[in-house]
Amino acid sequence: MSAPVPSINSLDKIYDPSAVPKQDKRYKNLLAQFEKVHGRKPEFVVRSPGRVNLIGEHIDYCGFGVLPMAIERDVIIVGSTTDEDTKIRIANINSKKYPAREFDYEGKEKVVSIDSTKLEWSNYFKCGYKGMLEKFQLDTPKGLYLMVDGTVPAGGGLSSSAAFVCASALAVVTANNLSISKTELTEIAIVAERNVGVNSGGMDQSASVLSEKDFALHVEFVPKLRTQAVPLPVTSPKLAFVIANTLVVADKFVTAPRNYNLRVVETHMAALFLAKKLNLPAVDTLKEVYDLYYKDSSLSEVERFTDLLKKAEEFYPKDNSNNNGYTLDEVSQMLDIPVKELQDKYMTRFPVETDYFRLVHRTKHVLSEASRVIEFHKACENSQGDSTIKTLGDLMNASQESCDKLFMCSCPEINDVCEIARKNGSFGSRLSGAGWGGSTVHLTTEDNVAKLIDAIKNEFYRKKYPNITEEELDDAIIATKPCSGAAIYTGF
Ligand code: GLA
Repeated sequence: MSAPVPSINSLDKIYDPSAVPKQDKRYKNLLAQFEKVHGRKPEFVVRSPGRVNLIGEHIDYCGFGVLPMAIERDVIIVGSTTDEDTKIRIANINSKKYPAREFDYEGKEKVVSIDSTKLEWSNYFKCGYKGMLEKFQLDTPKGLYLMVDGTVPAGGGLSSSAAFVCASALAVVTANNLSISKTELTEIAIVAERNVGVNSGGMDQSASVLSEKDFALHVEFVPKLRTQAVPLPVTSPKLAFVIANTLVVADKFVTAPRNYNLRVVETHMAALFLAKKLNLPAVDTLKEVYDLYYKDSSLSEVERFTDLLKKAEEFYPKDNSNNNGYTLDEVSQMLDIPVKELQDKYMTRFPVETDYFRLVHRTKHVLSEASRVIEFHKACENSQGDSTIKTLGDLMNASQESCDKLFMCSCPEINDVCEIARKNGSFGSRLSGAGWGGSTVHLTTEDNVAKLIDAIKNEFYRKKYPNITEEELDDAIIATKPCSGAAIYTGF
């Protein structure tokens, strides 16, 4: 069993020293608000962070490893319990945007109803609650009084939803005096979050729970969830990451049938197709194709990807749609699977809306991106100091190109910000998270951070959003360092 979720008694073990005074104020304010709203003393505080993905986009649900890191932005939940009932009263520090809600435990079987047709903030808490109580099967869970403060922008590509689900699950565990390992918490949160209607992979929850301060995280999902803390190269001046939110709100939930869930279906179809062509058993993911086909191969990991990419290009038939992809009928013929079976298996729980399935594009992205993650990890492990920054930057830029042209999950604003950044000292710039808006991440050095931030403010934000305030600007673009993962905070 992996280590238990840690209890941390001081903020400097969570945040960078420069952030501690601000965070201290924020925690105190949340604790005070809790008492004011609920009229009782807080008993516990839990925290789970957002993440920025350095490389490995849209490949976690294909089974391939990814390389994110946790950030300072997070979700904190303060709570207290009661044995008098099993109700949950949940309030948010931002009560205008997220009004207080109340619901009750519905028994071991159902736990709680979640209406996944609605975009409703408390659904994310319910996911964590449901996941935990399904696991622990309590007869009478404690009634809860909760207050939430989140600083991960919603729809900003920094994994606000996973931070909230992980913090919620941890709050339920802590409130009911249960204990759980970090890996279990992650695995439960991954499955639980799908209750809101997005067929997400496991990157965000893994980064939120399993990250370590000062390290990036290589997350692998197959054969089981495994993470490795990745040291970032030591350079002079020091390497730095800047995150710039395009402020194009990209809610995975809202566009899921055309974007996220569709990509999941397309990559499943690609796996089935390649498995068939390579005479392998039918499999669900491209990672299974890769593992099965090369299990006795003497090729290196990266060579295997190059080889499989070449084979894929030979196998795919030309489409009849001017490179737009295949219709469902065509896919059904290519896979030798009836349309109805494809619909039942892949498009019913998470419906999709499309005329064409772009299997060639998606396969090329997934295989090349998975290869880049391995190269990025190796470059960090075998760092040559300063020159490694360029290697990492090139990989990030290639990832962005692939996300834009092949996976089609970028957008004009993301492309703009990346271009401005590259002209102003970014070695590598790319979208981070699901894309279609949300945030971008840029690799630079500490001496260049201020210049890079200024350039993006002037050339992007002030032009695109002329009425943007200084406060909004400072919130939209930040320099960040790798932070620690989920924890129970005992220092109050
Ligand atoms: C979202 C999902 C993740 C991952 C990314 C894209 O953040 O929650 O599982 O698929 O998109 O890389």
